[in-house]
Amino acid sequence: MTKFTLTPSLTRSRLVAVLALSSPLAAPLSYALTVNIPVTAPSNASTVTGSLFSLSIEQDRWLDWAQASNSSSRNEFFFNTLDNLIQITGEGPQIRIGADSEDHTDFNENIEGTELVFPDPTTTVPYPEATTIVVGDEYYEAVRFLPSGTHVIWGVNFGTDNLTAAVLEAQAIKRAFDSDAVKDAGVVLDFVEIGNEADLYGGNGHREKGFNISEYVQQWTDFAQNVSVAAGINSTSDVKFWGGAFAESSHSGSGFSPQGMFSNGILNSSEGKLIGTVSQHHYSGSFRPGDSGLLQDLMTKSTIRSNLTMFLPDISAVRSQGLDYVLGETNSYAGHGAPGVSNVAGAALWVLDYALFAKSGLGAARVFFHEGVGYKYNLIQPITLTRSTINASDLPEPLPPHVQPPYYAAIIAAEAIGNTGDAQVVELNVDNERVAGYGFFVGGTIVRAVFINSEAFLSTEEGERGSVHVDLEFGGESGPTSMDIKRLTIGHADDVSGLKWGGVSFETEDARPSGEQMVETVDVSSGFDIVDTEVVLLSFQ
Ligand SMILES: *[C@@H]1O[C@H](CO)[C@@H](O)[C@H](O)[C@H]1NC(C)=O
Ligand SMILES: *[C@@H]1O[C@H](CO)[C@@H](O)[C@H](O)[C@H]1NC(C)=O
Ligand SMILES: *[C@@H]1O[C@H](CO)[C@@H](O)[C@H](O)[C@H]1NC(C)=O
Ligand SMILES: *[C@@H]1O[C@H](CO)[C@@H](O)[C@H](O)[C@H]1NC(C)=O
Ligand SMILES: *[C@@H]1O[C@H](CO)[C@@H](O)[C@H](O)[C@H]1NC(C)=O
Ligand SMILES: *[C@@H]1O[C@H](CO)[C@@H](O)[C@H](O)[C@H]1NC(C)=O
Ligand SMILES: *[C@@H]1O[C@H](CO)[C@@H](O)[C@H](O)[C@H]1NC(C)=O
Ligand SMILES: *[C@@H]1O[C@H](CO)[C@@H](O)[C@H](O)[C@H]1NC(C)=O
Ligand SMILES: *[C@@H]1O[C@H](CO)[C@@H](O)[C@H](O)[C@H]1NC(C)=O
Repeated sequence: MTKFTLTPSLTRSRLVAVLALSSPLAAPLSYALTVNIPVTAPSNASTVTGSLFSLSIEQDRWLDWAQASNSSSRNEFFFNTLDNLIQITGEGPQIRIGADSEDHTDFNENIEGTELVFPDPTTTVPYPEATTIVVGDEYYEAVRFLPSGTHVIWGVNFGTDNLTAAVLEAQAIKRAFDSDAVKDAGVVLDFVEIGNEADLYGGNGHREKGFNISEYVQQWTDFAQNVSVAAGINSTSDVKFWGGAFAESSHSGSGFSPQGMFSNGILNSSEGKLIGTVSQHHYSGSFRPGDSGLLQDLMTKSTIRSNLTMFLPDISAVRSQGLDYVLGETNSYAGHGAPGVSNVAGAALWVLDYALFAKSGLGAARVFFHEGVGYKYNLIQPITLTRSTINASDLPEPLPPHVQPPYYAAIIAAEAIGNTGDAQVVELNVDNERVAGYGFFVGGTIVRAVFINSEAFLSTEEGERGSVHVDLEFGGESGPTSMDIKRLTIGHADDVSGLKWGGVSFETEDARPSGEQMVETVDVSSGFDIVDTEVVLLSFQ
């Protein structure tokens, strides 16, 4: 197995050591790289806030996330996972409640909580979305259990083409957020989304085959006319619409894409003028049983970039209209994730590189990682599970709420961003196909850097673990002289647990960190080593 391709640029780097050549298949090589870090933020650095990592929650089981099973208090475990991040950055993830089940939801004021009908679980989909979801006021009022200061985006049903249902939901959303309980909780509604992935409606039975962007714009505008009144959205209100939320993008004016919405005149209507943000969904692929090699593919630097740079024309079209652009629903592999890929340690490195590149390379305002109870790609499993998320078999013992490896990525990003509110990020030029780096600036000055070595070190590998030595330069200027190093320690890329962030685990009963913090302090001039499947955070003094 080739660990690195020696590109001409790489050979320019110093080759410091060639260890243990006895195993020709897996000779571990140590390389040295020199990375230049700007001391002051370049003009194209992106402002990055603590809510870069946000969450999209499958709407059917929203109450399982929000509240305890007795419905009279919050889900303490989920609350703690959010509060951990708030304690680091001062700002929690924004929460979008929607997705596929958004287009199957109906409102009935006589219902307490929710009435759900689920299809049978299958090996591939152990935790399917409910096909029927009927909700009452209590469902929306449960937002009061989120941490104070949380911003919320809620989706209403456009799929069943029943305006009455959408209006009843929008009214219930407004009632909930206008209530004293939610106001006292400090939880704020930012946006309402009308429908999920309407570009798929022509194929999934929500509309006639051939449903096109011009019909979409017409129907969306008709719905928005009533939904805006019901939800209290107008030109002076703080609440606005999320537009789009398409599964794919045609990147063209004639298909489903931001460009297609604009060229069909969505922004010319008074309703369209209430769109504040355009949302795009994206998955790196769809899991099919039998697929293999997906973990390294997912982690690979170049595929992360090609999965995101395809949206550059879209984001530029959106921003030229003065609107924000978000990845409003995203995660690794569609269909709730790939087993042994989306739920393992390597996925934490993917999540981190993906979110930081979406910000620094694309200019996305936020990235909403999609979550559902029992989904493989979750950062967080908010309730006790009795069925395997991998194959739907009954678990020998109930599995209590827990965080999954990708949760560590949110913690690391939070620490890199910090709590000053004025952080900026740029991707660093790292001349290596496996190592990615990002510089973080506060007050325009470099304060931290994150490096990710995305070479998958798998439990099936017999050779020694590869390692890269990184030396730092500061563009000829006198940079910082001392730095603290924190590492995300991972046994193997395919481990499902046992990660440690600077010696600390979040895999605890209450999601609160546990363990003694381990930080190395070194001279910047010594550089640092980063092994395969590792993340390093440098804090400069
Ligand atoms: C509801 O459940 C939570 C968590 O289990 C518990 O702390 C709380 O006391 C319960 N409330 C009532 C009224 O039973
Ligand atoms: C939508 O708004 C129009 C105009 O105000 C109104 O006549 C109609 O009854 C509303 N429809 C629903 C379902 O609320
Ligand atoms: C539309 O939704 C309303 C409110 O839930 C419901 O009463 C009505 O039966 C629905 N209409 C259709 C055609 O399903
Ligand atoms: C969209 O569909 C409608 C109704 O079938 C049709 O009249 C219209 O020409 C189509 N528009 C485009 C751009 O394909
Ligand atoms: C706009 O919406 C806000 C908040 O829902 C409301 O207070 C205000 O009266 C509305 N303005 C108009 C012109 O309808
Ligand atoms: C929307 O308005 C703009 C600016 O007024 C105009 O150039 C454009 O032709 C309009 N688009 C449609 C589809 O009506
Ligand atoms: C997206 O990433 C996956 C690996 O996760 C890769 O197979 C796929 O080709 C990438 N897609 C694009 C458009 O780059
Ligand atoms: C930012 O500018 C630097 C230096 O000009 C360049 O290398 C880098 O590619 C730019 N990054 C982006 C995301 O435009
Ligand atoms: C199903 O997955 C669990 C892990 O969640 C594993 O322990 C078990 O062996 C698997 N069962 C089958 C039949 O593959």
